[in-house]
Amino acid sequence: MKPRARPPGADVGDLSCGAGEASPRRLRALAAIRDDARGRAPRAALGGAQRMKILVTGAGGQVGLDLIRRLRERGHEVHGSDLLERPKAAPRDLPWHRLDVTDAAMIDARFAELRPQAVFHLAALLSARGETRPQLAYAVNQTGTFNVLEACRNHGVGQLVFTSTIAVFGPGLPSPVADAVPLLPTTMYGITKVAGELLGDYYFRRYGVDFRAVRFPGLISATLPGGGTSDYAPLMYIEGLRNGRYEAFCRPDTRIPMMYMPDGIRALVDLAAAPRERLSRSVYNIAAFSPTAQEIADSVTRALPEVSITFAPDPRRQAILDSWPDAIDDALARRDWGWAPEYDLDQMTTALIPEVRALLQATDTDVDETPAGAAS
Ligand SMILES: NC(=O)c1ccc[n+]([C@@H]2O[C@H](COP(=O)([O-])OP(=O)(O)OC[C@H]3O[C@@H](n4cnc5c(N)ncnc54)[C@H](O)[C@@H]3O)[C@@H](O)[C@H]2O)c1
Repeated sequence: MKPRARPPGADVGDLSCGAGEASPRRLRALAAIRDDARGRAPRAALGGAQRMKILVTGAGGQVGLDLIRRLRERGHEVHGSDLLERPKAAPRDLPWHRLDVTDAAMIDARFAELRPQAVFHLAALLSARGETRPQLAYAVNQTGTFNVLEACRNHGVGQLVFTSTIAVFGPGLPSPVADAVPLLPTTMYGITKVAGELLGDYYFRRYGVDFRAVRFPGLISATLPGGGTSDYAPLMYIEGLRNGRYEAFCRPDTRIPMMYMPDGIRALVDLAAAPRERLSRSVYNIAAFSPTAQEIADSVTRALPEVSITFAPDPRRQAILDSWPDAIDDALARRDWGWAPEYDLDQMTTALIPEVRALLQATDTDVDETPAGAAS
């Protein structure tokens, strides 16, 4: 068997015995290794001019191909992977691999074969789907993230970029919600994403895997959405243009943070490239705008007066929406790595409509709007 690459400081475990046994010398040594993990330049991170080999998990979803396009534009060698076959929209020269993140042996073999320098870990079951199949959501989101972190540790991957979510927050938090608040989500999706954040930060401090994450708000793009509870927003554009009408599954006064996809992709890539020493934390809130569902509908119908948008709240998805914050404080991301969104709601509408028209011309695929409660 090939010897595995071990990052410096990977054996902190040898020093960190139970609290009762830890001598001052052991604690000093442990602190030094942790400081080293925090302070040293990552083994390989996106910041420099270096062309990197990057693996993207869950690359067949709403975020994946947009992210891959951006990474390739920056000159990186990118490999897509997913449970799914290569999507039709994927570039023909994009290397594509079947990878089930719940299968630790498959991940280990793939990492040994590809030897990625950085990983963008997107694979997940999103909130609405996660509530219909909580056990599967646990397997994909929690065990899957653990498996990917272990593979990063065992194969010397320099950087792991993780996509967290505003679903890590539970109800009742003061608005706008800051980064460091008690994380008490009420969905399996939120619970597993909290675990992913904590695990990633642990692997950074203990093993030196340069773990970074953004907490995405609801993302809107010209892509068929994948079972998130914020899907009503992109569906107003997609169904509005396709059928001339859309019945949203939420109340018109529902207000959650949203973002146009290009801003979300830029956030991921900019955070990955930021100098580690400037980062005061591993996981960051990011925000763009926080419209009510009615305000999104108004933005759509101002641009497309022929479209009719109505509301028929689905109690299960509405309950999830009501548990999320209505606004996010992203001051730390702005301060630490210069984050700022470029699009507000109406600017997004202007940019998105031609993209959705092109999507609809390119595909007659049915929109998969999986209702909470249905098997998917
Ligand atoms: N889209 C949003 O609005 C949003 C908001 C917040 C956070 N996020 C996060 O961003 C990431 C990407 O989201 P997305 O919108 O592209 O989701 P998506 O549902 O569109 O895509 C997720 C992908 O993961 C894949 N997948 C599922 N199980 C897998 C497994 N066992 N192994 C490998 N792949 C598997 C799916 O096939 C799918 O292609 C996710 O981690 C999600 O939690 C998304």
